[in-house]
Amino acid sequence: MNVRGAEPAKGNDAALQQELKQSGNIPVHIAVIMDGNGRWAKTRGLPRIAGHNEGVESVRDTVEACGQLGVKYLTLYAFSTENWKRPQDEVSMLMRLLMRALRDETDKLHRNNVRVHTIGETQSLPREVQAELYDAIEKTKENTGLNLFLALSYSGRWDLVRAVKRIAEDTQAGTITPEQVTEQLIECYLSTKNVPDPDLLIRTSGEMRISNFLLWQLAYSEIYISNCYWPQFRRNELYAAIRNYQSRERRFGMVSEQLK
Ligand code: FPP
Repeated sequence: MNVRGAEPAKGNDAALQQELKQSGNIPVHIAVIMDGNGRWAKTRGLPRIAGHNEGVESVRDTVEACGQLGVKYLTLYAFSTENWKRPQDEVSMLMRLLMRALRDETDKLHRNNVRVHTIGETQSLPREVQAELYDAIEKTKENTGLNLFLALSYSGRWDLVRAVKRIAEDTQAGTITPEQVTEQLIECYLSTKNVPDPDLLIRTSGEMRISNFLLWQLAYSEIYISNCYWPQFRRNELYAAIRNYQSRERRFGMVSEQLK
């Protein structure tokens, strides 16, 4: 049996986490649109890559805090299908940063019982990034703590098109019939198969858009917009988002009385 857990929080942080755990539900699945790296850098007169670099620190802190809180799934929108259209030098720098972050962090993630997964068209990533990514996935595959999903070269429409194509192929091959196409079946064809839908979607930098993220999966997620840029988003911001989530009533289309 794997008895390892995330390294425990210390001091005041441990108290804050305890308070969150006691005051309500900790979301099972948190999805994050990490936005504002470029603006963070610009307001400081720094190159955009400095914002991405600092953003890695926020990733580190958020992953660690989620593990300690007992969040089971964390999905980070790290590189969208549309991000390939950015200037070539920014794309190259982002890829190098990703590769370095995976190389430097995998051992720690493993020690903290985090299991790494990915969603997206990962074959289009540079070979060296794929190698680090698959190494992290392989090394952590037995871990039982936080499931960290890195959405890379991902978009919600890409996910849906891929699912529809596969359903069409299976229908043509006679493995399924059109009558068998239900919500549950579609979920099995999405890249998030067997992963519960996000309870909470956090987006930073004050923007109110879904930006082609988990279009199907976010149907009933609670949305929390943080006004800080991603490089400023650290565990205290995460706690604020969870506290806010805990104050919401999730009705899933029903009325309050039905939930009692
Ligand atoms: C959005 O900011 C951020 C990204 C497109 C990249 C996110 C990547 C990281 C935080 C670093 C690597 C990630 C991992 C998982 C190690 P933006 O550039 O769109 O900012 P802007 O809207 O202010 O220009």
